[in-house]
Amino acid sequence: MLKSSDFGSDFLWGVAIAAPQNEGAYNVDGKGLSIWDTFASRNGKTKEGGKPTQACDFYYRYKDDLLLAKALGFKVFRFSIAWTRILPEGVGRTNKPGIAFYHKLIDECLELGLTPFITLYHWDLPQALEKEGGWTSHLLLKWFSRFVTVCAQEYGDKVKNWIVLNEPMGFTTLGYMLGKHAPGRLGLDNFLSAVHNATLAQAEGGRILRSEVAKAYIGTTFSCSEMMPYTNKETDIAAANRMDILLNRLFIEPALGMGYPHKEGFALLDKLHLHTKAWKYTERMKFDFDFIGIQNYFALTVKHNAIIPYIQAIEVSATKRKVPHTAMGWEINADSFNRMIKRFSAYNPAKDIIISEGGAYFKDHLVNGVINDAHRIQYFQDYLKAAYNAKHDGVNLKGYFAWTLMDNFEWSEGYKARFGLVHVDFKTQLRTIKNSGYWWRSFLKS
Ligand code: NOJ
Repeated sequence: MLKSSDFGSDFLWGVAIAAPQNEGAYNVDGKGLSIWDTFASRNGKTKEGGKPTQACDFYYRYKDDLLLAKALGFKVFRFSIAWTRILPEGVGRTNKPGIAFYHKLIDECLELGLTPFITLYHWDLPQALEKEGGWTSHLLLKWFSRFVTVCAQEYGDKVKNWIVLNEPMGFTTLGYMLGKHAPGRLGLDNFLSAVHNATLAQAEGGRILRSEVAKAYIGTTFSCSEMMPYTNKETDIAAANRMDILLNRLFIEPALGMGYPHKEGFALLDKLHLHTKAWKYTERMKFDFDFIGIQNYFALTVKHNAIIPYIQAIEVSATKRKVPHTAMGWEINADSFNRMIKRFSAYNPAKDIIISEGGAYFKDHLVNGVINDAHRIQYFQDYLKAAYNAKHDGVNLKGYFAWTLMDNFEWSEGYKARFGLVHVDFKTQLRTIKNSGYWWRSFLKS
């Protein structure tokens, strides 16, 4: 049986949440609207019309929720700062009550012995900035720099651990190309400008933190998924390779100073290449992060499909292939997770790797006050074993953060998809620790 102590005594065991998914209080104490407040209020954008307005009410219940995180045995608490609480219009005036909220949250963490890890951007751009072009605007860099500077100067004395962006691939693809997430924009032009601005913001955020926060430990996070060709046909292999460039390499490689992946004759990225070549941005896209956060939720099987615009590739779902999957339909494959950890570490083996999120949605059943989520427990056991094996094989793995403390607002899935270790009744806000939460508690004692 794997024990938490097998990972070493300095291993960072954390649990993660995000402002728009947990806080609620969407228009309280001077907070401005974010793109998620606006997007979710449009018809049909989220399951059953779920909105982040109240979410888990964390804004008011944070003390109790931090106690829960501590009771489950976690040592690190990862949360994000809502840009719209700090700067309601995204730029310009700051908002004192919003700034005060995170001071209280941080102080409470420190008081309880939970090490805070702050995510600066977890997908909730101020709506006021979206009106000006949002992530597609070249002004984004200036706006984001201001936000980072304010946060670093406010909290930098107390908080040393910082994450610049959460899954830039997630918010640029879903939000700016496919229209499935806020702000709901479509098309290649929107996507490519958002990618480029996010890449620059990611590095610039790192530089600002480095200059403002003494002894900072700075990272950023990337989603990653192994791409498996559906067959051995050359066309499927090439399709999987294109998906790999897009979903795995597009953000990490420029961050590491390698520039965008562009040499593989992948037409979709040509524009991006010209973009950066002309502006000689390769240096500015690079930052020497102290750690790389990786988040792996599924492996993808991919086949060639000529009809799909730009990428000519399509996923063959786990349900169709009848392989194990979560209630999200995401393939469960711990070996693939192990390979992705090794692959991301191989870019620079000296760099620290943190699994900055890991978790799963399974259908939970609350019976007599008990949630016996055996699938989730099994999932964590298998994925932690895979992480342990990667560490054992030499990966500089420094931490694992479970996603997520409690059921919360799961973006376009509304409140249907529950990833929490703690069940939340969204009518009463009653919290019930799931068996997976109890499992973590005993694992972290081991
Ligand atoms: C990654 C995102 O960072 C997080 O916000 C989301 O809830 C999980 N994936 C699960 O979909």
